[in-house]
Amino acid sequence: MSSPSPTRLAPEPARALAALTEARERTLALVAPLGAAELERVHSPLMSPLVWDLGHIAAFEDLWLVHRFAGQDMVRPDLAEVYDAFETPRAGRGDLPFLHTDDALDYLAMVRDRVAAATERLGTGDGLLHELVVRHEHQHNETMLQTLALARLEGYQPPDRVPTPAGGGGHTGLELVEVPGGRGSLGAGPEGFAYDNERPRHELELSPFRIGRTPITNGTWRHFAEGGGYERREWWTDEAWHWKEEYDITHPRNWTDGGREWRIGASEPIDPDKPVVHVSWFEADAFARAHGLRLPTEAEWERAATWDQETGTARRYPWGDEAPTRRHANLDQRAFGPARAGAYPQGTAASGSLGMLGDVWEWTASEFRGYPGFVARPYREYSEVFFGPDYRVLRGGSWATSARVATPTFRNWDFPARRQIFSGVRVAADA
Ligand SMILES: [Fe+2]
Repeated sequence: MSSPSPTRLAPEPARALAALTEARERTLALVAPLGAAELERVHSPLMSPLVWDLGHIAAFEDLWLVHRFAGQDMVRPDLAEVYDAFETPRAGRGDLPFLHTDDALDYLAMVRDRVAAATERLGTGDGLLHELVVRHEHQHNETMLQTLALARLEGYQPPDRVPTPAGGGGHTGLELVEVPGGRGSLGAGPEGFAYDNERPRHELELSPFRIGRTPITNGTWRHFAEGGGYERREWWTDEAWHWKEEYDITHPRNWTDGGREWRIGASEPIDPDKPVVHVSWFEADAFARAHGLRLPTEAEWERAATWDQETGTARRYPWGDEAPTRRHANLDQRAFGPARAGAYPQGTAASGSLGMLGDVWEWTASEFRGYPGFVARPYREYSEVFFGPDYRVLRGGSWATSARVATPTFRNWDFPARRQIFSGVRVAADA
């Protein structure tokens, strides 16, 4: 692979292998409480069976590290098509001749053995492909958690669960902070790993705006729903209204009768202080309109998350340069759900906004498009084929996103009707 990026990570092979091992331990821990029947079942037409994710993680590593990096034949070239996410949309994956549980686990282990041997022999090159593969596995862990959330598997015991902080609460999501306008930057700089769609970093001029201090909470959303939010035609675009009517949408995806909501493995009373989750872009947009507000553009979101007005530079993370820890943000899957809004004061951005990273993905107004000067890397199907008006960008990562992945420049994208992801909303307004 030739890389257009000047980046050279050159991490020690031991560090790369430790990162791969950590991701693998997480994958195996997530599926350990499940039997083969639960792993192989299609829990939702929106999602692959969990065992497909296992085989796909192996196939991706087989292609990028065994074949492209180490120059060896793939362990299972015959499976490349079955596990090609682009060739086979999720709705069709239940019918594919994918590996059953034991074979998928064997495939994962076989590929990893080859990768470990090749990495010890060859090093990691510029480190980019190893990093791509580590992050890919972390991202599939989040996809698997979405499947587990949709499956509503009562009694699933989340592994290594860590409680969220006792603090937070008292926010609605409708309190706005002022963000000054001016010249700033958007996107990832040339150093270190970033996905192709985050580059190149470029300058742009923004008007002053206001943005939610926190994401919108369940309590605020309940107010909206009970106040006719899903019935008032004037708050919905034509397309959104049509979707809402067709699927009879009246509340977020995980809410059930009796004021309860589904979390991973259990149904719980809705906590009014936690961010609303599992709402579509259509719902987020209607909610904002109903309040005389709008969704932030991704340039506004990134500015609110990273821009330090005093120094005139973008911070690496909302709180500064320190890598994320449990004091800063609810990331890394250990909470198995969002914390109360405002629970991480040490993660406050220079703008005064809280919880920009972790808890819930935040829908933005922006369509998914390449930045000026975009170059596809390492392959067009990673992002370029999705550019256009069909997708909207989400920012900030969720509680299920790895801290390694959830940087303030990371761009996620999905259809405006989708709400199986851990998606919430932060509102904005002109100054
Ligand atoms: Fe994938």
